[in-house]
Amino acid sequence: MTARTNIVDEITGHRRMRRNRKADWTRRLVQENRLTVDDLIWPVFIVPGSNIVEPVSAMPGVDRMSVDKLVEAARQAADLGIPAIATFPNVDIGLRDETGSHSLAADNLINAATRAVKKAVPGIGVITDVALDPFTSHGHDGILRGGEIVNDETVEQVARAAVIQADAGSDIIAPSEMMDGRIGAIRRALDAAGHQNVGIMSYATKFASAFYGPYRDAIGTGGLLKGDKKTYYIDPANGTESVREAALDVEEGADMLMVKPGLPYLDICWRIKEAFGLPVFAYQVSGEYAQIKAAALNGWIDGENVMMETLLSFKRAGCDGILTYFAMDAARRLARDG
Ligand code: PBG
Repeated sequence: MTARTNIVDEITGHRRMRRNRKADWTRRLVQENRLTVDDLIWPVFIVPGSNIVEPVSAMPGVDRMSVDKLVEAARQAADLGIPAIATFPNVDIGLRDETGSHSLAADNLINAATRAVKKAVPGIGVITDVALDPFTSHGHDGILRGGEIVNDETVEQVARAAVIQADAGSDIIAPSEMMDGRIGAIRRALDAAGHQNVGIMSYATKFASAFYGPYRDAIGTGGLLKGDKKTYYIDPANGTESVREAALDVEEGADMLMVKPGLPYLDICWRIKEAFGLPVFAYQVSGEYAQIKAAALNGWIDGENVMMETLLSFKRAGCDGILTYFAMDAARRLARDG
C-alpha cells in the first residue's frame, strides 16, 4: 500500500509546482519570457549647443545632450546592440510659439539630431516624435485656438512635420499627440513624398497620466503647460476605448503600436497585442523611471533587479519591445549576465 507521506500531498495529489523551480537549470529550462537587447528603444533628450551633457533633475542617470554628444551616445548604444533611439528636443524658448511653427523647420533641433546620428551611426534606428509640444509656447501637443486644441489643423501640420522629419532621415515617425485621423494623414503625406519605407509607430493608446512630469521638465514644457491634456489623451479609467483607439490606427496604416505609460497599463498591452497581432511597444515613462531610481537611491529597493523585473513584465504582457530610459543600463547588464 502506498502511503501518503504528508498533509501537503493529500492536498496537492503529488502535483508540486516547485519541482520545476528546484535548480537554476530547471528554471532556465522552463522560463517562458526573456528580455534581450533587441527589445530596447532608448529615449534621449537633446539640447541646442555643443559639448553639453546636463543631468535631468528628476531622472538621476539621464542627461540632456547636445547633438555632438548624442552622436557619441548613439554610437555606444549601437555598440551595445540597442536597435533604436527615440529623440526628444528641448527647443530654445524663443523658438516656441502658439502654433509650434518651428516644428516645420528643416534644420530644427530634432531634425539636426537625426541627420547627425544617421550620418555617423547609420546602423541605429532613429524614431522621431512628431507632436508639437516641444515647439509650442503653451506646452500642448497641438495648435491652441480659443482655449481649444484644434484637431484637423494640428493633423495637417503634424503630417507636414512628419515629411520633414523623414527628409532628415527619420526611420520611424512616432506621433504622440493623439489627434483623430493623424495616422492616415501622416501615411498619405509620407507616401506622397516618396517615403514609403518610413514606418509609423503610433502612440496609439496614450493616457492622460500623471507619470509624465519629469519628461516635461526635461524638454522644458512643465512650466509652460496651461491646463491639462484630457481633451486629447485617453482617460486612465478606459480600457475598451483604448482598444478602439488602437483599431483606428491599425486601419489608418500604423506599422507598430505603443502603449504609454507602461507598467500601470500592462492590461492594455495584453489586450492590444491579442486584438491586432501588430508589434506592440510599451513606453516606460519618465515618472516610472523616477520612482524606481528614487527608491533605489534611498536604498529601499534593489534598483537594478527592479529595473530588470519591470522590463521582463512588459515581455510577459505581450510587448515586442520597450521604450525605456533604462535602455543603456539594461543593455550593459544583459551583456554582462545574459
Ligand atoms: C508629449 C509627450 C509626452 C511624453 C513624450 N511625448 C507626454 C507629455 O508631455 O504630455 C512623455 C514621456 C515620458 O514621460 O517619459 N507629446
